[in-house]
Amino acid sequence: MAGVVAFERRNSVGIITVDNPPVNALGQAVRSGLDEALRQALADSAVEAIVLRCKGRTFIAGADITEFGKPPKAPMLQAVIAAYDASTKPIVAAIHGTALGGGLEVALGCNYRVAAPDAKCGLPEVKLGILPGAGGTQRLPRLVGVEKALDMIVGGDPISAKEAKSIGLVDALVEGDLLEGAIAFATSVAAKRPLPRVRDLTANIDPAKLRPGLFDDAKKDARKRSRGAVGPARCVDAVRAAVEMPFDAGLAEERRLIEEAIASVESRAMRHVFFAERKAAKIPDVSSDVPTLPVKKAAVIGAGTMGAGIAMVFANVGIPVVLVDREQSFVDKGLDIIAKNYGATMKKGRLTQAEMDTRIGRITGTTNWDDLAQVDLVIEAVFEEMGLKREIFSRLDKLCKKDAILATNTSTLDVDQIAAATSRPEQVIGLHFFSPANVMRLLEIVRGAKTSKPVVATSMKLAKDIGKVGVLVGVCQGFVGNRMLHQYYREAQFLIQEGALPSQVDRVMTGFGFAMGPCATSDLAGIDVGWRIRKAQPKPPPGERYSGAVADRLAEMGRFGQKTNAGFYRYEAGSRTPVDDAEVEKIIVQVSKELGIERRQVADEEILERCMFALINEGAKILDEKIALRASDIDTVWINGYGFPSHRGGPMFYADTVGLPRVLERVKALQEKHGKVWTPSKLLEKLAAAGRTFADFDSEQEGSS
Ligand code: CAA
Repeated sequence: MAGVVAFERRNSVGIITVDNPPVNALGQAVRSGLDEALRQALADSAVEAIVLRCKGRTFIAGADITEFGKPPKAPMLQAVIAAYDASTKPIVAAIHGTALGGGLEVALGCNYRVAAPDAKCGLPEVKLGILPGAGGTQRLPRLVGVEKALDMIVGGDPISAKEAKSIGLVDALVEGDLLEGAIAFATSVAAKRPLPRVRDLTANIDPAKLRPGLFDDAKKDARKRSRGAVGPARCVDAVRAAVEMPFDAGLAEERRLIEEAIASVESRAMRHVFFAERKAAKIPDVSSDVPTLPVKKAAVIGAGTMGAGIAMVFANVGIPVVLVDREQSFVDKGLDIIAKNYGATMKKGRLTQAEMDTRIGRITGTTNWDDLAQVDLVIEAVFEEMGLKREIFSRLDKLCKKDAILATNTSTLDVDQIAAATSRPEQVIGLHFFSPANVMRLLEIVRGAKTSKPVVATSMKLAKDIGKVGVLVGVCQGFVGNRMLHQYYREAQFLIQEGALPSQVDRVMTGFGFAMGPCATSDLAGIDVGWRIRKAQPKPPPGERYSGAVADRLAEMGRFGQKTNAGFYRYEAGSRTPVDDAEVEKIIVQVSKELGIERRQVADEEILERCMFALINEGAKILDEKIALRASDIDTVWINGYGFPSHRGGPMFYADTVGLPRVLERVKALQEKHGKVWTPSKLLEKLAAAGRTFADFDSEQEGSS
């Protein structure tokens, strides 16, 4: 049994315990252990009922994802569950933590399920590009009804134990000791016959009782929301099989569908995203024994939209935060933004009045900098001006306690220069939140040349504590995300100057799966922002192309984007939906003419290639310069901060699927045609020549660290 599953008997109840840290995933050892333990329980004539429970922080959290794509090793999970299903003695699954994926499927193969009140149950496989493949799509609709099962399987979000009880997924909630409660429950049902088996239920899957068109609508809806991923629609097909086929045929159909899914690039991409996110939390030279500093109280300097959003992030997780600005009117404005944001969440039913009051109560506004003396962390979020930031940091240096972390939310400026304004650059770090800070999951953690390891370790831990995905990056203009974004936008703008229209560029990129196209995103962020920055910078020398020409013209006309109801598109008052604008087309045609560019038909393929390859080439340069630790970190940045579709795995994963020799060949061709902005990355050249991938690069780095 390899020690991961144990069997014992207490009076007449057999107890099967899974102990496979960290999350009791169903690796081969657990599967064979479960099989063997059941055999023992059935063979022991003193056992009248069985409890299946887990040690550690959670019930079984799913199949072992690391085994996917490798040759399967017996026993298969389906066979293990079939054995539990066929048990002649009642089995009670005792759920705590999270019963996810294969874990919930094991529980569905038991006769009864009891749960701790704070447990969660779910079938999140869709988020890995697959579907529940061990009977979940066949059993769940039988137990809780088709519509609820579709919600859980196609949406992938877990539900609370309370909800699970209310829909019949769980038979009882156990307050207090779960094992004792489960034993008592098992004893109470030990003699009951026939044994309830989910596979035998029919009432919920009677086609006559289902809403006509239910599956077609569900599939349409899944397609609409999946940004081109096919996994969600496949989940609908599997549930449909539960209604249209006998149980065993349904299981076979589920198997066929999951095998198709596992082999798909989409699922490989989504599994990559899952592990990439977890790998990003590991910093090779900052081991887990580096001490972290407690962050019990925080402060944010600058009560603008960004500062207000950051303050909310802390308040949301119970950390009191002081919001500081120069004038009371600025502070009040920030507090107002916060109240409005929380109010909107409450109206949507996602926050109670009491919880909103508690969170708002954790935020205090002030103009008095003396309030900063006691905080553990300060995040500066004023506008991007080096002089101002240095002045603030020099002031913080004098005011804050010795071990306080001094962080800047700069998105472009040199963190080392900011740190140099203090006497403690080792305490200074960049914490780059993405707008809106209370919504976006990404946090770029910018390590300065002198940032200490405990400050890095604390920041990485903090990211997790505040519900963000932290990615450690190095100092350079724009760090990882915005530096790449710059290249992506540049290419989108060149394509527009050459003959494409904003709607075509955006259609191609949303067709690829981006949440928004580059032009609609510029309208959302405000065209004036980049315009002001460009105005302060020297124009490119003659002979070099300038990508800002169209955006500058729009901004000069007061077309700042959504905030002025006009930008690359026009917007009806109060609406955020971009509408094509003939006026913009005229402006673009005029700008092309002034630039001496003869407009041409631009093919969709060219748009995709140039936008994507610009991202990839810059990503490779970033990797080569060690600004990012891994290619997978770059993917994590793009998926969590820029709406990159997770079913494409991120720009670097996507590059591997295209093939690096092909990417390089096109980058070189573009360099020939468009000049030095397309200078290929040395790393890209090296990897392509050696027939290696970015994934190989990551593995080799890991091996050498
Ligand atoms: N397989 C393998 N490893 C897993 C895993 C899984 N299913 N789930 C988590 N892990 C690993 C993580 O990679 C991480 O490893 P490292 O410490 O080496 O980085 C470790 O377990 C802890 O994970 P988290 O950092 O995510 O811990 P958490 O406490 O924040 O979250 C969790 C725990 C909610 C269970 C979360 O890990 C999670 O959502 N896991 C995935 C659950 C899932 O998708 N299950 C379905 C699997 S597919 C399936 O079951 C198919 C089927 O039908 C047979």
